[in-house]
Amino acid sequence: MGERVLVNGARLLDNLSAMSTFGINPHGGIDRAFAQESDRQVRAWILEMWARMGLETGTDAIANLWGKKHGSENLAPIVFGSHHDAVPDGGKYDGAMGVIIATEIMQTILERQIPTRHPLAVVSFTAEEPNAFNLSTLGSKVLCGRLAKEDLLSKTDRSGKVRLEDAVKELGGNLHHLDEARLHSGDIAAFLEAHNELGRQLEIRDLSVGAAASITGIYREKITVTGESNHAGTTMMQDRKDAFLSLSEIAAALERGALQRNSPEVTATMGYVNLHPNEANIIPGSAEGIIDIRTSNDEDLQFVLGFVEEAAEKARSRRGVQVLRECLLDQKAQPLDPFVREAILHGMAAEGEPEVTLTSMAGHDAANMQRIAPSGMIFVRSVGGYGHCRREYCRPEDIVKAANAMLFAVLELDQSMDAAKPQPAETAAAVNWEAAS
Ligand code: GLV
Ligand code: MN
Ligand code: MN
Repeated sequence: MGERVLVNGARLLDNLSAMSTFGINPHGGIDRAFAQESDRQVRAWILEMWARMGLETGTDAIANLWGKKHGSENLAPIVFGSHHDAVPDGGKYDGAMGVIIATEIMQTILERQIPTRHPLAVVSFTAEEPNAFNLSTLGSKVLCGRLAKEDLLSKTDRSGKVRLEDAVKELGGNLHHLDEARLHSGDIAAFLEAHNELGRQLEIRDLSVGAAASITGIYREKITVTGESNHAGTTMMQDRKDAFLSLSEIAAALERGALQRNSPEVTATMGYVNLHPNEANIIPGSAEGIIDIRTSNDEDLQFVLGFVEEAAEKARSRRGVQVLRECLLDQKAQPLDPFVREAILHGMAAEGEPEVTLTSMAGHDAANMQRIAPSGMIFVRSVGGYGHCRREYCRPEDIVKAANAMLFAVLELDQSMDAAKPQPAETAAAVNWEAAS
């Protein structure tokens, strides 16, 4: 491949700092959830940056952002990127770092005028994180056909007041044209994503970077408990139907179930709760919670769910409440592509790093992309193992290492991939491309 090409580390880090000004709160966390004003603003910033680089920019029907350059051969594109939304009070790295690393790789290839056989595209996905619509990895799920247009058209947010259709429209998408955003096997030659690890696996082994071998399964369920609101002082303790206490017992059972598996690859959390009426002098009449269980193994999942059902049953019989359980997500573990992983490992080796692979306990768009294209991920060490909180941090030298390793992988794949021919026009993704000015 001749002389080794490296990214501009200083520019990469500057762009990452610039991106973290969008949605920054007074505590230094990032508030940039899907469809918030900060989401709108960062989208405009990303598209403008890509247009300035000379890319053709576009927004597809689910409002994913794209920036594309041509290749010398008639091949499907190699795509790389991540997402720009964030969890509430989140970190500066989750998603953003992957978008900026992808941008830097593209910019390096453009300014060094490195010819590529494949077209290349950068992508920033819509709504990767959970949000008011209870939909995560929304953009990549639509691309790979996991969500039906009719279901999305009837979706509203948790308040019931905002329609998903309107939220997507404001961001430049159009749910009515969703079928056009759909990609099929062969439309993309390969997908690569860089991400902070969000856990401690790399730090424990004192490693800067690692490649993902697979992505954990994620199961989410909404639990709605209906009891009876009543006076906190005048209602005797034995006369209550406390929805919150019932939900708490389910949360505690969830923890007991996961702990009994005694594995770093089985976790269970109730991270979202909502009480009604939620006032100090009223017994909670209803309580809603969302549970999140992660494992690659169905037996573990069923084991933990057994604890949930047992606690729900106890609440029904002992507290006289109703408990409704509704599955929101049942995503199985997803192995990533070995060929793309090899290219990433070669890139890591070129950086002098050991060729280490991990199972990701965080969910990622790459798990969806793997359904339609060979996909791979490179992780950057998370200092202290923090993720989904404002304490997320990655060392600059680790970030630059990952970018260089991924650039190496992109160029290797461009040479080595026997990519499928592009699909006929009617199945190709429709993006409203705007020629760069
Ligand atoms: C995605 O960020 C997840 O792991 O929840
Ligand atoms: Mn995340
Ligand atoms: Mn992420």
